[in-house]
Amino acid sequence: MDNLITLVNKIQRACTALGDHGEENALPTLWDALPSIAVVGGQSSGKSSVLESIVGRDFLPRGSGIVTRRPLVLQLHKTDEGSRDYAEFLHQPRKKFTDFAQVRKEIADETDRITGRSKQVSSVPIHLSIYSPNVVNLTLIDLPGLTKVAIEGQAESVVADIENMVRSYIEKPNSIILAISPANQDLATSDAIKISREVDPKGERTFGVLTKVDLMDKGTNAVDILEGKAYRLQFPWVGVVNRSQADINKSVDMVVARRREREYFSSNPDYKHLAHRMGSEHLAKILSKHLETVIKSRIPSLQSLINKTLAEIESELSRLGKPIAADAGGQLYAILEICRAFDQIFKEHLDGVRPGGDR
Ligand code: GDP
Ligand code: NA
Ligand code: MG
Repeated sequence: MDNLITLVNKIQRACTALGDHGEENALPTLWDALPSIAVVGGQSSGKSSVLESIVGRDFLPRGSGIVTRRPLVLQLHKTDEGSRDYAEFLHQPRKKFTDFAQVRKEIADETDRITGRSKQVSSVPIHLSIYSPNVVNLTLIDLPGLTKVAIEGQAESVVADIENMVRSYIEKPNSIILAISPANQDLATSDAIKISREVDPKGERTFGVLTKVDLMDKGTNAVDILEGKAYRLQFPWVGVVNRSQADINKSVDMVVARRREREYFSSNPDYKHLAHRMGSEHLAKILSKHLETVIKSRIPSLQSLINKTLAEIESELSRLGKPIAADAGGQLYAILEICRAFDQIFKEHLDGVRPGGDR
């Protein structure tokens, strides 16, 4: 099954290299058909913190205002025990980052490269791969935080621009929604719940994550939410305790933070009974498992789409004639190769799951 997530990752990268991320071009529907997990929530709801906890590294730009101004497609690849963590950007394919402070800087620089240091947003994604023995295979898309007012230097339209961009990602039926709501605000006012309910009214593809459980008013708790009584989703809610701003300022280590999070839930009398399904490690595991399940269920439709794409690329290549000097030709060959590999894996997989042929 790891094979499938890895292959979907490759196709996602190839689509971005070809400039196919929802806009009209040679492969208009392939990217849309690939299952992925989109992270949505209001500004400062804790999106970046949740992503960093899942990865177990500090690597996202921080600050007030709208920090995430382009989607970040984050692909996590589990490597062999003992190997060193590193990161790679699609736009700098031959550079390995081992210093995650540099990763943070590169995300910020690459954001500015497209948005020109203005505070505007762009729907062109940045692709980042992280290789580590401590991650699960998973693809997450970090989206700009939903906001209610434009700030100094931003066009009024930025509020609607962000909302439309977020919606364009999560309205795809193959999108899994990671909806982040802070526990210290009324759930009825959650931006994440509001927008996910619009596109997924039955909560069939939305994972509710409750952050800042540690910051709730004394005498209150999140049990009703976490037990699914306040707002029902098909999947159980996951509560998390991320690092506070003070922890970040003191550079509290992610490993320490994860341990503290575990202790928080297991030692708190309110949450003890839920502790086994709380926390960012648990969240990462259920997301990876769910992503696999979704990809598996989409194999037949993905396969026919891949075959159609293969045919289109082949005819495009023959129309261009050989040899192709242009870079686009090389990229088409690359995606052709990946589609063929994908097709092969599908065939092998389907052989294994055909009725009577169960492994
Ligand atoms: P984003 O804007 O949604 O990406 O939010 P961030 O992840 O940047 O978090 C905003 C602020 O809330 C930061 O100062 C975090 O340290 C803090 N924060 C996020 N999650 C938690 C949490 O679970 N507990 C506490 N105490 N602080 C949190
Ligand atoms: Na946020
Ligand atoms: Mg953020």
